[in-house]
Amino acid sequence: MTDTVTDTVTVHVPVLTQELMALLNPVINGVYLDATLGGGGHTRELLKRVGPEGVVIAMDRDEEALERAAIGINDPRVRYVHGSFSDMADKVRAMGYHGIDGVIMDLGLSMTQMKDESRGFSFNSKEPLDMRMDRSLSVSAGEIVNRWSERNTVRRGRPCR
Ligand SMILES: C[S@@+](CC[C@H](N)C(=O)[O-])C[C@H]1O[C@@H](n2cnc3c(N)ncnc32)[C@H](O)[C@@H]1O
Repeated sequence: MTDTVTDTVTVHVPVLTQELMALLNPVINGVYLDATLGGGGHTRELLKRVGPEGVVIAMDRDEEALERAAIGINDPRVRYVHGSFSDMADKVRAMGYHGIDGVIMDLGLSMTQMKDESRGFSFNSKEPLDMRMDRSLSVSAGEIVNRWSERNTVRRGRPCR
């Protein structure tokens, strides 16, 4: 994958996109969920294929990714939503959709997140450990690793929602 990052917009070119689209085979006027929007590479590809009445629900846990993508992809067929894919069914229902035609999940983190020193994802610089995908969450990886006791970490450590 490659990311081209300016101050406000990330243009992400994901790998295996053509293969993914061939497998997904989007239908005209379908509703698709890109559950890991990131730089929007997959959302852009879906938009080329879903037709004029199609919809792409573009979700990310990272509000900054959503803001960047919304600047770069100005298309009324995109519905942006902040949240975790673990809540995708509730989020999609809350938007009024009771069935969709397909979901893409491109798991991991983006180069934009990795390279942004304020995000604390990389071990290659002196930035404080943070690693929150969603910066509205109060607990960072640094707090867990450096401040929580082993007992507390075991007791409170459970899948994030
Ligand atoms: C590899 S990037 C996706 C790149 C994207 N496919 C593209 O074409 O630009 C992974 C994205 O998933 C997001 N992410 C990670 N965990 C998430 C979660 N639980 N729910 C929603 N998005 C999540 C990250 O914030 C990141 O933007």
